[in-house]
Amino acid sequence: MQVAFNLAAALDTTLQAAAHAAGLAAAEAFRPEVRTADPQHGDFQANGVLGYAKARKLNPRAVATQLVAALPAAFSEHCAVTVAGPGFINFTLKPAALLAWLCAHDSAAHLRAGAAAAHAVQTWVVDYSSPNTAKQMHVGHLRSAVIGEAICRLLAFTGARVIRDNHLGDWGTGFGKLLWAYERHLDSNSLATDALEEFERLYKIGHNAAESDPAVMNQARAELVKLQSRDPVSLARWKTINDCSLAAFQQIYDRLGINFDCHLGESFYYDKVDRVYRELTDTIPPLAEISEGALVVFHPEHPRFKTQPFLIRKTDGASNYATTDLATALYRAEHFHADGVVVLTDFRQGDHFEQLFLTVKKWFAAKHYRLPELHHVTFGAVTGEDGKALKTRDGDVIKLKDLLDEAVERAFTIVTEKNSELPEPERRDIARVVGVGAVQYADLAQNRNSNYVFSWDKTLALDGNTAPYLLYAVTRVHSIFRKLGVAPGDPATESLASALETPAELALARQLVKFPNALDTALATLRPHFLCLYLYDLAGEFSSFYNADKVAVDDPAIRARRLLLCARTLLLLETGLDLLGLRTLTRM
Ligand code: ARG
Repeated sequence: MQVAFNLAAALDTTLQAAAHAAGLAAAEAFRPEVRTADPQHGDFQANGVLGYAKARKLNPRAVATQLVAALPAAFSEHCAVTVAGPGFINFTLKPAALLAWLCAHDSAAHLRAGAAAAHAVQTWVVDYSSPNTAKQMHVGHLRSAVIGEAICRLLAFTGARVIRDNHLGDWGTGFGKLLWAYERHLDSNSLATDALEEFERLYKIGHNAAESDPAVMNQARAELVKLQSRDPVSLARWKTINDCSLAAFQQIYDRLGINFDCHLGESFYYDKVDRVYRELTDTIPPLAEISEGALVVFHPEHPRFKTQPFLIRKTDGASNYATTDLATALYRAEHFHADGVVVLTDFRQGDHFEQLFLTVKKWFAAKHYRLPELHHVTFGAVTGEDGKALKTRDGDVIKLKDLLDEAVERAFTIVTEKNSELPEPERRDIARVVGVGAVQYADLAQNRNSNYVFSWDKTLALDGNTAPYLLYAVTRVHSIFRKLGVAPGDPATESLASALETPAELALARQLVKFPNALDTALATLRPHFLCLYLYDLAGEFSSFYNADKVAVDDPAIRARRLLLCARTLLLLETGLDLLGLRTLTRM
């Protein structure tokens, strides 16, 4: 028999069938709503009976009892069922069912195969990181990159074709001032050594000069017009600036394990905006209208956007962020045939994306274009422990590069304190994985909508919900196998396993089989912290198991089943951390 990957989903299906078998009125309308349960009640709980019974003025306990009676006869071999409280149905898996799940999901490939149903044959475009060029990435740029990559991996794991799109801000009005200064003040030595520092310096010169001298301001505007009209010299300089920016960004992406499929920035859409203007004005009634010389979209049904316009063409005829984003939405639907689009930015762009999505929905409906699922994934700011923006001692924003360097340096100090006997190159390698992973994980582990309070002590702590704790848990399981001279997941060993028995074995197994539910929740909400929480609980369950039950016992059947639990813990920890974008180690 094939063992379901997602047991809650399987129970859902079973209960739906039971509703038909029991002859429930409007059985097809019954939604079992099976979720993981509070452990004191069992493994899973269905609470859909309550809503169903209430809507039909039935006694929920009676309906629940009817459903349980209609379950297939063989069901009780796998699972104990009780009706509880006002009409919940609680399920507790039998040890044999737990073991069957663990045996069936013995490799990353098998997990992947089980998970792949959720988004099979779908295409998702994920727009993340997407920094503005000509500037260095600072701590504020961490969240989009790290959370975006985790979302990509979760989508890909559940079967989607994922297109990682870096929507660079490479066509902003800032280029006027920058090109003005580039022409007059470029230091080619600095360009060669640290291009982004040099562009930032030039931009400041251009900005200050333009602010204090109207003549310079006009020259900077003229530079922008030259660029926009594709003057070859301006265009070549602009290209140098963007190429150098991307090369510098790539160094950060490499350290974070990020590989984009495309870098279709704002400039890519610059010549695709006329169709946007045309299609938003040629419908009856038109979606966009002229207001005070600009082209705008109002949304009369919306409390704020009925008067707050979505400006898509400025009075001077120029396009803006809204226009390129509209063209982007169309391109993703037409060129990539996207079923879903996820865009990550900080919460301050909430209005922009709400207006954008409202506009896109009406536009696509009017033109009969297929509308992808649209998600704006937002996150809070990164602050220091004082609640203020994270700054260096001199009051500058912290560069992402420096933050990662410091993380690795600090991790190296810790590793050296704990493990001075390891050769230095190995300690350096461990420090790279732990340091960068700690920064990624600290960001991922909290609900993305909260402001993220950055603290070195919490980030690098060896206990608590941190990367060092989880990475250490992984190495601990590896060392168990090393000491016994067995490979994790060795089929000959595992075939000897006897039934799970002790409370600690069962508790660990119960946590293991709930991995699919953690994936589900993380994906349904696009919040990777649910997966972090799951992995943290798993590591905790493993610790309890390891303290309670000896693995290296003489009885080969008991040893085999405990090794099997160790191997699955390792598999799920490694798979989970990989889904979050972290690298793992075999020793540290
Ligand atoms: N470049 C923008 C910024 O730095 C983010 C772009 C997000 N993507 C988009 N399609 N608007 O804020």
